[in-house]
Amino acid sequence: MTFNILIADPLSEDGIQPLQDSENMNLVIDTTSSPEELKHKIGEFDALLVRSQTKVTRELIQEARNLKIIGRAGVGVDNIDLDAATEHGVIVVNAPNGNTNSAAEHTMAMIMALSRKIPQAFLALKNNQWDRKKYVGVELKDKTLGIVGLGRIGAEVASRAKGQRMNVMAYDPFLTEEKAEEMGIRYGTLEEVLAAADFITVHTPLMKETRHLIDSEAFSLMKPGVQIINCARGGIIDEDALYEAILSKKVAGAAMDVFEKEPFLDHKLLTLPEVIATPHLGASTVEAQENVAIDVSKDVIRFLTGELVQNP
Ligand code: NAD
Ligand code: MLT
Repeated sequence: MTFNILIADPLSEDGIQPLQDSENMNLVIDTTSSPEELKHKIGEFDALLVRSQTKVTRELIQEARNLKIIGRAGVGVDNIDLDAATEHGVIVVNAPNGNTNSAAEHTMAMIMALSRKIPQAFLALKNNQWDRKKYVGVELKDKTLGIVGLGRIGAEVASRAKGQRMNVMAYDPFLTEEKAEEMGIRYGTLEEVLAAADFITVHTPLMKETRHLIDSEAFSLMKPGVQIINCARGGIIDEDALYEAILSKKVAGAAMDVFEKEPFLDHKLLTLPEVIATPHLGASTVEAQENVAIDVSKDVIRFLTGELVQNP
């Protein structure tokens, strides 16, 4: 029996090699179809592989009469309507570990770029401006990094921040004081972390409980001059509230990799010199892209050939 597999977002070529090598998998790579076009063709496919660009909506799943499995080459499954998939008997697998390191490294790169105003200074230099006074930064050593969401990525960020000699404090509903102590970090409630931190980085999934977790009320609890980092998901931070908090000088700087609406273009936050940003690059390393594509490819093969999925 041959299975039709649709790859709807760009995935690592090396990563999808297991599917290419599999005799009974007919692979179609189509990363340019519009949502409407996708709805017309999805009926032919047994498996759909995506990154975060394709929105796997209820409308799309309803048209997917042969679909058995959706593979998300990455962690966040907020671009997939999980309820609709479940109702239609379609299983969803992701790759929860493959890009952890990459996302943690990107977060550290953003914290360091933010604290030393590297992107702003580089932009000025590119425009032939040599200004050493304007781009005075702050050290990370002895500053408190508040981590909201101490899962895989949050924990990797914590251990790296300690390497920068930062004090790390974290809030996660599943974190206990004992566990925090074991990790050499301080435990706090969300309010305590927000009030104590010089830098705050969020690493929760986007769910209804975490949408706008960092809103104007949360900003009001923070220290003046706090710096904010979001390399997790757009929507965890209320972008309008962040804009106001920067204008009022409560927030001294923000580094953002992810946005409520992507692509994030022509947005008022991008007009502020305090904001640095990257276009959702947290997992964009050769290694991470290969890892996540291999992980989901193998799981799709396992599932379609009657083995148990591993969600490695
Ligand atoms: P994870 O599941 O290991 O960790 C998430 C943590 O958030 C868990 O420990 C959970 O208990 C905690 N959490 C849940 N609700 C919370 C709340 N209300 N307050 C505080 N903590 C809460 O996931 P992970 O692998 O660390 O990834 C986290 C998120 O990062 C993903 O869901 C994804 O959206 C995002 N991500 C982004 C990129 C990128 O390219 N920028 C790359 C990888 C992952
Ligand atoms: C993820 O959730 O894994 C990230 O958004 C990375 C990505 O898929 O680009």
